[in-house]
Amino acid sequence: MHIREYTEDDLDAVFGLRKLAFNSTQRPERLLKPGTHGLVAEIDGRVAGVLGIGSYAQFYGGAAVPMGGIGGVAVDGAYRGRGIANALLDASLSTMREHGQALSVLYATVPTLYRGRGWERTGVLEWVELPMDRLLSVPRPSERIASRPAEESDLPALHECYLQVARTIDGMADRRPPRFDLGKVLEMDLVSVLPGQDGLRGYLTATREPGGDMGRLKVHDLIGVDVEAQLTLLASLASWTGTLEAIDLRVTDPATLDFLAGTPLRYSVWTATWMQRVVDLPAAVAARGWPRLPDLAVDLEIVDDHAPWHAGPQRLVVEDGTVRVEPGGTGAVRLHARALGPWFSGARNTHALWRAGLLEGDQAEAAVLDQLTGSSGTPRLADFF
Ligand SMILES: CC(C)(COP(=O)(O)OP(=O)(O)OC[C@H]1O[C@@H](n2cnc3c(N)ncnc32)[C@H](O)[C@@H]1OP(=O)(O)O)[C@@H](O)C(=O)NCCC(=O)NCCS
Repeated sequence: MHIREYTEDDLDAVFGLRKLAFNSTQRPERLLKPGTHGLVAEIDGRVAGVLGIGSYAQFYGGAAVPMGGIGGVAVDGAYRGRGIANALLDASLSTMREHGQALSVLYATVPTLYRGRGWERTGVLEWVELPMDRLLSVPRPSERIASRPAEESDLPALHECYLQVARTIDGMADRRPPRFDLGKVLEMDLVSVLPGQDGLRGYLTATREPGGDMGRLKVHDLIGVDVEAQLTLLASLASWTGTLEAIDLRVTDPATLDFLAGTPLRYSVWTATWMQRVVDLPAAVAARGWPRLPDLAVDLEIVDDHAPWHAGPQRLVVEDGTVRVEPGGTGAVRLHARALGPWFSGARNTHALWRAGLLEGDQAEAAVLDQLTGSSGTPRLADFF
């Protein structure tokens, strides 16, 4: 088996594999899109498997950590079960490391495949169905902020408005170009902005989609940097009463939903879970934001057969307000590859990791790892790939 980066010449072969695997019907015009690269596995000169990697960055502790978003993993039906997907995943780890992607995320249809290579369930992307009566019970804003349709010149401010909120929610993508094309926002059916004194106070993006008698309204982003902006945007959705029975809202800022939209006892949520892997622990730790902590050190032993560059004894050191990982130490706390994503992102504390058999050794030492991440709970993404 030969694994190599794919080129434009592989378009037909890759489309054939993805058509079979995912029932894709639209042949893309190009394979190499800005901000993406990928790998193919060849057997006897024939493309037998493919894996795509998008260049993203996720906020953790307020800092954007480069992340390889894996998608479109497919193996020819006639070649399955002989380790091609495993080999592609192994190769993707070195490729992502070479591209400076210290983390990797994927939305898995087959979690066992990715678990075997160190990815573990970490975060969610959610859509919520908001019935109109719920929107009508949202408190009215006390300040009138006039919204208007977005223009091309608003796009940088719109992105800045998103970043102001997204950088405070662990896991969110920073939507950097070239993977994200800001100009595409204006292709949506509704893009409404709330001008502020300095930039935008909020914005809402939505598309009309088929479904039911009158179709659906899918709100992709509802972002307000202060309470009045959020209430104004929620109130604007109530204007759809009469036309629609409910609105679909992608959860970008969970606090808007929890604190202002008033979650009832039962409501409908569509959840896609994502798995994360730390590709390069020292690089990931250096890139993340951390709380202020006194100087300390935790001795780790990283058990990771597929990323040998960070396997073995490693010491996590907090010194003069910075956090780093360096080789050495006693290996008092043993962390398996699959523990790294849930720990790094704050999705799970060391007790949960220990109960799952992903962490062993000195539990008192391990508790310091929780102090570092704050075990902040479920990380989120609002972007699918
Ligand atoms: C899933 C897929 C990529 C696996 O490819 P493959 O080359 O047959 O996988 P491998 O032979 O390398 O197997 C890797 C491991 O995953 C496991 N695995 C593979 N397919 C699996 C499945 N459908 N369910 C559960 N486990 C699976 C294998 O048992 C193996 O485990 P091991 O390492 O413990 O032996 C292939 O079946 C496929 O293209 N499926 C359709 C598309 C798809 O679902 N892609 C995943 C998108 S996220």
